[in-house]
Amino acid sequence: MTLAIDIHSHFLPAEWPDLAARFGTPDWPWMKHLGDGKAMIMVGDREFRPVHEDLWNGARRIAAMDAHGIDIQVMSATPVMFSYERPAAHASEVARIFNAAAREICAHDPKRLKSLCQVPLQDTDAACAELDTAMAEGHIGVQIGNHVGERNLDDAGLVTFLHHCADVGAAVLIHPWDMMAQARMPKYMMSWLVGMPAETQLSILSLILSGAFEKLPRNLRICFAHGGGSFAFLLGRVDNAWRHRDIVRADCPQLPSSYTDRFYVDSAVFNEDALALLVKVMGEDRVVLGSDYPFPLGEQVVGKMIREDDGISPDLRAKLMGLNAARFFDLESDR
Ligand code: CO
Repeated sequence: MTLAIDIHSHFLPAEWPDLAARFGTPDWPWMKHLGDGKAMIMVGDREFRPVHEDLWNGARRIAAMDAHGIDIQVMSATPVMFSYERPAAHASEVARIFNAAAREICAHDPKRLKSLCQVPLQDTDAACAELDTAMAEGHIGVQIGNHVGERNLDDAGLVTFLHHCADVGAAVLIHPWDMMAQARMPKYMMSWLVGMPAETQLSILSLILSGAFEKLPRNLRICFAHGGGSFAFLLGRVDNAWRHRDIVRADCPQLPSSYTDRFYVDSAVFNEDALALLVKVMGEDRVVLGSDYPFPLGEQVVGKMIREDDGISPDLRAKLMGLNAARFFDLESDR
């Protein structure tokens, strides 16, 4: 059997302390249980997202992995918990709550359930400290949002944090969140369908065009969710702009497409032709299986597209299903 590792899945605990009461500020997320394993994530009084117990039930996660043929699942919190807009001390406390909850879910089967921590990214020193604590507790890396307010990934504090991740051997998953232009995308999940791919494109180009990859060490392991958003399809446009406009190449000494050997993307593009382009742009070693389990916008049978795509050779299938992720996360095939 091919080793199968899903690097993009989400968890939330069944419940957590009343954060609004704890911090005395409104609009914190909480879980409203509806019975029968169903719940609604609430933000203050607003319904944010319907969820079910796969999010917090380790036994159900393992059963789904068995049904889908997945050996190892890497879980991250959902971005609604990041709290980057809050005081850093509050975000640190929230990070500790959810990082501990992740370890509890993983304890159900520590060989097959792995976790990425969250950190208070608005404060670089606090973020580095929480990362160190979480890595010592067994997390295998960190999931961060693709921006902190107006600061993109090329912000000095965020680059310092990424450098620290490389220094301590923490793998980094970049997840889009807090999407742009929400006033223009009030309906039809436009923020997920347009905003998220654009956010991810923006964060990748921020690192490339700012020259951040020139300063960051090569041992930084960084992966972007959702196939890197709109990056791969529009890379030709970026290269063309770099060639013909000096303001595009002002801080970026190499052709933008030459930096694709510095990061990974997951496979969550939901279309065989898009996946083929992604593999062509990123290379066979830099695409990893990611599903967005257990959310409705995720792949419903995790890994199905890669397993059933006749255009993929057995060697490439093995890389996409698990070998690339095993290398990225430094995981043994120890099932
Ligand atoms: Co996700």
